[in-house]
Amino acid sequence: MAEPMLFTPATLRDTVLKNRVVVAPMHQYAAQRGFATDWHLMNAGRYAAGGAGLVIMESTKVERRGCGTLGDLGLWDDAFIPGLARCVAFIRAHAAVPGIQLGHSGRKARRFRPWEGGGPLERTPEIDDWDDWELVAPSALAAPESDPLPRALSRDEIPALVERFGQAARRAHEAGFEVLEIHGAHGYLVHEFLSPFSNRRNDDYGGTDLNRMRFCVEIVEAVRAHWPANKPLFLRLSVEDDAGWGPVESVELAKLVRPKGVDVIDCSSGGMRGAPVVGAGPIGYGYQVPYAARIKREAGIATMAVGLIVHADQAEGVLQRGEADLIALARELLYNPNWPMDAAQKLGADPRFALVPPPQAYWLEKRARQVRDLTPSTYRERSDA
Ligand SMILES: Cc1cc2nc3c(=O)[nH]c(=O)nc-3n(C[C@H](O)[C@H](O)[C@H](O)COP(=O)(O)O)c2cc1C
Repeated sequence: MAEPMLFTPATLRDTVLKNRVVVAPMHQYAAQRGFATDWHLMNAGRYAAGGAGLVIMESTKVERRGCGTLGDLGLWDDAFIPGLARCVAFIRAHAAVPGIQLGHSGRKARRFRPWEGGGPLERTPEIDDWDDWELVAPSALAAPESDPLPRALSRDEIPALVERFGQAARRAHEAGFEVLEIHGAHGYLVHEFLSPFSNRRNDDYGGTDLNRMRFCVEIVEAVRAHWPANKPLFLRLSVEDDAGWGPVESVELAKLVRPKGVDVIDCSSGGMRGAPVVGAGPIGYGYQVPYAARIKREAGIATMAVGLIVHADQAEGVLQRGEADLIALARELLYNPNWPMDAAQKLGADPRFALVPPPQAYWLEKRARQVRDLTPSTYRERSDA
């Protein structure tokens, strides 16, 4: 049988992913004053040990103001590098490629964690740097309207903020990450500049599509200036935000950033109107795959599909049909961190269980040899077993 595409390597610049399964960035809400903890090591580690080709650590903030919650990871100071380097070393030790996402929450900063309700935080003595944790945005608009009003960034402040992305990219490189993703989606700062819903500026960062793209394009340039040319760069977009930014604009932006060194567009959606992107109502399997297909086709750039990709054959189909180059999973990996290993079994791609560390592979292979047609799942006992 031909090797399933999901388990063929992908080469991006000098980086080779051993397969096309990517751990989508997922906030852990577990940092302590921005520093990575043992939780981050364990969490990134279990995905790497589960067989993923690329593990992208969560949206890590380029400045203090950009933190969404009290538990966000930081990369606005060199002091954060060693804690992240520890995670990098562990991911690498399990033959996965370490990646990280750079973000800034903009007007969606300073909130409770999702399971605490996700609403705006209130000033308490425990938050001793409250005044530094300011909500900033392209325009002084709250969404939803009951939220605290952000302060519109002045024209003069923007270059320094752009450079913070550049400096965070340098630190990510120093920590040893091999893939970097700029978070331009989900209603956070970069997306707030892109969308006419949140950007009402009348200077050269607002108004026309091109002006609204300027902040993002400058961030790509600043990041590329500090991120080595041999390392791949991804950009995550809300390809459709239901608020005035859509696939046409996303294709235009992808075409603009491709020659500036973006290798992959990570195609997400939503997040602009207050609803969290993963809670956007009734959505079906692979609901964002059409965005990845369209950007790939119309902008001529590699894409990553994400969003309710759950089954091995579903992921394989997306690749076979040429709709995307990489498959990212988030919640399904919360359910099963060994998904890559499991998917490889279901597609018949890894008879030696080589995707997982030898102490696991040894026993799983032995069991597979002992019991023919074993169904490796908690579901369905075979009636003839
Ligand atoms: C716990 C959790 C944390 C997330 N954190 C981030 C994040 O840091 N950056 C980001 O771009 N998306 C984040 N997302 C969105 C996911 O990357 C992904 O796009 C979304 O969950 C849809 O994919 P899925 O259906 O496979 O979960 C998060 C999702 C979850 C469930």
